[in-house]
Amino acid sequence: MALAELQALESRSTMGTYARNPVEFVRGEGTRLWDSDGNEYLDFLAGISVVQIGHCHPALVAAVTEQAARLMHAGNLFYTEPAIKLAARLSEASLGGKVFLANSGTEAIECALKLARRHRPQGGFVVLEGGFHGRTMGALSATPQEAKQAPFAPLVPGFVAVPRDDPHALADAVGADTAAVLLEPIQGESGIHPLSDAVVHAAREACDRHGTLLIFDEIQCGMGRTGNLWAWQGSGVRPDVMTVAKGLGGGLPVGACVTTPAYADTLAPGDHGSTFAGGPVIAAGAGVVLDMVDDPEFLNAVGVKGLRLLEGLRDLGLEARGRGLMLAFRTDDAPALARRLLLEHRLVVHATGPDTVRLLPPLTVSEDEVDQALGHIGAAVG
Ligand SMILES: Cc1ncc(COP(=O)(O)O)c(C=O)c1O
Repeated sequence: MALAELQALESRSTMGTYARNPVEFVRGEGTRLWDSDGNEYLDFLAGISVVQIGHCHPALVAAVTEQAARLMHAGNLFYTEPAIKLAARLSEASLGGKVFLANSGTEAIECALKLARRHRPQGGFVVLEGGFHGRTMGALSATPQEAKQAPFAPLVPGFVAVPRDDPHALADAVGADTAAVLLEPIQGESGIHPLSDAVVHAAREACDRHGTLLIFDEIQCGMGRTGNLWAWQGSGVRPDVMTVAKGLGGGLPVGACVTTPAYADTLAPGDHGSTFAGGPVIAAGAGVVLDMVDDPEFLNAVGVKGLRLLEGLRDLGLEARGRGLMLAFRTDDAPALARRLLLEHRLVVHATGPDTVRLLPPLTVSEDEVDQALGHIGAAVG
């Protein structure tokens, strides 16, 4: 089907919730994507921090194919090995408590919010301005952005937002009636803003003082994106609960809420559930991604390539920020630049706002591909 026909069909059939670029992708391999006209693109977005080990990695394809041919779904009334092994592996690689597997980031957040309310019934939540945690009603209530929230009011009550750079405001907002502080160690959707150590430490101290849960949303910044397996490892502040999604599945829909041992049994039988969550195909695939990413050599390479990209952007005279392969740079009219990079240079990036372009390549990107992307960006901004 030609792109124009596909666009016409979409406008008749699909809710208009997405502003799509005029490109249809039909194939991917590593850091490369191909459109329906056969044009090749360099992917520096990875489906928004999802395609962690590159498109169609053979080990991921093999695990998924094999599991799909054996058993696709049995449901959570029974045991299936891939989900239980994935949960065990994820716990061991993070907080050491227990895991609830979900289907997406927003669902991982819903689990964390419910867990916090179980911990402190009737308790409120403190979140940071600029944070993004998802689109379901609970996660949306934790996402203090007027444009996203206002049309859907009234939201879930009990959420208080404080500025992202103010440790005192954060500490003051937390009290004995706060169930949890929820934050992204590096805010992603609002344009790649690493939180200061002062804010993260203030959050930990306030939570310790009041018996409040500290929840880190690692959905975008986790799974090796920063060169550490988890972004919080960079600050040394350990959360009580962590949410993971996006890169965990490497392209498959999965999310997870993970606890420390202290909160491992906060949710009881019947408290939460989901029909598809922990399905054997997705869990088999996520296991492959986690095994590949949770490797010191792999993570070290992410740091090296990230630094090359960051320094390359700065050498182009751009104001760049971020950690590892989670980077952004400032530019006038970012949406126009992102569109030009896509349509003229065939480099996939994303504008998170009027002046910010975000770069989130697969973690398997090569140094040569980093240089190619810098060449395109240099040509487009020059
Ligand atoms: C930090 C963060 N939390 C939560 C979400 C929601 O994840 P999902 O789109 O899988 O529901 C996102 C998605 O962009 C995110 O970046």
